[in-house]
Amino acid sequence: MRACLWRRCNFRSHECLRPFSVSPVKHERVDVARLLSQQTEANGVDVHGWVRSLRRQKKVAFVAVGDGTTLESVQAVLKPEDAAQLSTGAAVRLTGSWKASKGSKQSHELQVTQVAILGANDAEHNPLQPKYQTPEYLRTIPHLRPRIPANALLLRLRSQVIASLTHFFNQQGFVQTHTPIITSSDCEGAGEVFTVSSNAAKDSEQRLKPGDQAQVEHFFRTNKYLTVSAQLHLEALAQAVDKVWTLSPTFRAERSDTPRHLSEFYMLEAELCFTNDLSDVMTVVENMLVAVASDLLSSHTGAELLKARESSQAEHESPTDSLTAADLKARWTGLASGAWPRITYAHAIHLLQTAVTTSSATFAFEPSYEVGLQAEHERWLAATVGEGQRPVFVTDYPAAQKPFYMAPSPTSSESSGGDEHSTVACFDLLVSELCELAGGSLREHRVQELQVAMQGKGVEGGGLEWYQDLRRYGSVPHGGFGLGFDRLICYLSGVGNVRDVVAFPRWVGRCEC
Ligand code: 4AD
Ligand code: MG
Repeated sequence: MRACLWRRCNFRSHECLRPFSVSPVKHERVDVARLLSQQTEANGVDVHGWVRSLRRQKKVAFVAVGDGTTLESVQAVLKPEDAAQLSTGAAVRLTGSWKASKGSKQSHELQVTQVAILGANDAEHNPLQPKYQTPEYLRTIPHLRPRIPANALLLRLRSQVIASLTHFFNQQGFVQTHTPIITSSDCEGAGEVFTVSSNAAKDSEQRLKPGDQAQVEHFFRTNKYLTVSAQLHLEALAQAVDKVWTLSPTFRAERSDTPRHLSEFYMLEAELCFTNDLSDVMTVVENMLVAVASDLLSSHTGAELLKARESSQAEHESPTDSLTAADLKARWTGLASGAWPRITYAHAIHLLQTAVTTSSATFAFEPSYEVGLQAEHERWLAATVGEGQRPVFVTDYPAAQKPFYMAPSPTSSESSGGDEHSTVACFDLLVSELCELAGGSLREHRVQELQVAMQGKGVEGGGLEWYQDLRRYGSVPHGGFGLGFDRLICYLSGVGNVRDVVAFPRWVGRCEC
């Protein structure tokens, strides 16, 4: 999102907000979104917010005040002497009357009778200036960046999407659960874990002299890690209540320096029992995102996201960002319409190879069944099979490319690529730009087959005895998925880099505050 959205956006989309009533004696604090929806005049109005811009004229001063409830700001009209101490960025309380405006840019304005500075701002030295500042620079000041109205809008979007998800899962009978952050195993087996240690461990390490054989003291006695996925614990909880979900912090020590990767991110995960059909799991993902996109399409936040994109496009703020408001809306509509394409991995490779041989596409990496899909291939599949608007499910990947816990695909010549046990019953959900948005599978629920798969992948069984237990005591066929929540926010908002939708992003070499 672009920094110049500090400026006023002159549109009205608050019809859905309830009008407020102001008592003639007592001043009522009213937020900016509600005040802007008020089409009748009122006295004794109290607005709390931050000065976004200031224009001083000889006889009058105009102050734009915003409070993060909307992209827009209220125009306040002050006597020049009352505005003398104000500066952009200062926190203020303005009291006055809500009156029809003579100006053409707003229907009403606040005629101010009392001004109180609640928090002064050193405008000259404030690292956040009310002008265009590059995304790279803004990432160096994450503690101030959320105050930019477009970034505040992303906070509201995040909150709204969580509300939609909570509503969806509740309606579908899924139980929201909390899984641990500190874990004993690397669920994905990719070796991208952060190890947890206490200061005591550090002290005892320092006390060791070179050559000392003494063991370093571990707080938990053995190595523990920050979770890379809640899946294994969710599987345990699903066996208690059938259907579960969680939205939890996830940590990966991967060095991927891309617009899609973070070291700390939120993953939305769900697990459901009593299914041996992968399409049941895909249908949950699809219905869930249909619900989220439908809510967004009819929401005030959605209207503001489209307006923000329109104004940033009109101002040509970023020549590299060509996504228009119409494109963004088409994304939401593509999500909300459901019935997304489902193709097998073998078919995806076939499509890619045909595109190369017919010269309709060129890739840096040749598409190959054994090597796997590269980001450029995933992007092409989303653009062509999904026509850039609908997500695409790619199913039944070769077992060699996937973690130990996935169940084999049901026997089928198309999904197996010839060898009936060479693929697993899994999917990746691909979207334009961001590539993989979610991944899921049926889980291997038979203990012996699970042990063979663990051995085959070199996964140590010791730390996962408890996981094998789940297969010993009342195991049932089940499946689930994980969706990159921050990637979803990127996709919904049209922001090109996941580092710009997370308030305090962490990636390799960077953890600002
Ligand atoms: O595909 P992943 O690695 O799947 C799992 O961890 C499964 N255990 C989930 C499950 O079945 N419960 O991760 C799931 C999603 C990816 O599709 C991607 O969207 C996101 O998490 N993701 C990341 N997002 C931001 N930064 C990273 N470094 C990410 N790694 C994965
Ligand atoms: Mg994956």
